[in-house]
Amino acid sequence: MGAILFSFPGNEAIANALSHSLSIPQGEFTLRHFPDGESYLRIESSVENKDVILVATLERPDDKLLPLLFMADTLRTLKAKRIGVVAPYLAYMRQDVAFHPGEAVSSRAFATLLSRYFDWLVTIDPHLHRIHTLSELYSIPSYVGHAAGTIAQWIRTHVTRPVIIGPDSESEQWVSQVAKDAGAPWVVLEKIRRGDHEVELSLPNLETWKTYQPVLVDDIISTATTMVETIGHLKKLGLNAPTCIGVHAVFAADAFEKLKKAGATEIITCNTITHPSNRIDIVPILKEGITNLKTL
Ligand code: R5P
Repeated sequence: MGAILFSFPGNEAIANALSHSLSIPQGEFTLRHFPDGESYLRIESSVENKDVILVATLERPDDKLLPLLFMADTLRTLKAKRIGVVAPYLAYMRQDVAFHPGEAVSSRAFATLLSRYFDWLVTIDPHLHRIHTLSELYSIPSYVGHAAGTIAQWIRTHVTRPVIIGPDSESEQWVSQVAKDAGAPWVVLEKIRRGDHEVELSLPNLETWKTYQPVLVDDIISTATTMVETIGHLKKLGLNAPTCIGVHAVFAADAFEKLKKAGATEIITCNTITHPSNRIDIVPILKEGITNLKTL
């Protein structure tokens, strides 16, 4: 009886913190690759009749998905009671529609797969845009935590006279909340994405904010093109070099270095994905989600 928590490789810090604050022991398992690249998995702890929490953030999901499903399948075979996944970053939330004929709606396919293997899901700020709630995609109970309050707290203690800037209308949902919680003014730009590495931004009148410290806030920093472009505009308008805050430090290839070079004074992220820029701790939000789903 009871609960047990497993940490997927790379999730140790969050898993240790959750295990400690929820007083749930951690389970042991071996995950390795055979010489041909196939995955080998063995669960070494007893899970029979236990509530299982699997902590697995899901950036670069294609490498993780099969081992994750093998894990859920094996836990089920070993008679685990319920199996939940805590994915602080939930992948495949942006391709939520076929933009061109024949395109995979990967959000839906990914959600269908996870819903088949897991009993519940906890995540932080998934990219909800055209899809408004996770239940439109996922058929299992889910809890969506929000980092806005914690980000606002960081801004309040670290930035003097901030103005919160969002790169596009999609960011308005978290930018407006962060600004409200931080007691700061905010503005969002208009963005048109022309390709993976090409975005075009509108130039609203930002003159008013010249004496403020710009704080760019976005949910995902992937190629960092969005933030780099925004910084370029702020520079042209003579605003201070901004502080850049992302919820999810995806940072594809050399994105982090590109963003530093572009002139960000500071790059700050939440620890939904382990990265040197992590400064904002979302573990209490995950804990609340796990408790809220009454899994324990
Ligand atoms: C897009 O809709 C998201 O909210 C982010 O703005 C986007 O994912 C950032 O991507 P990138 O860093 O590649 O510009």
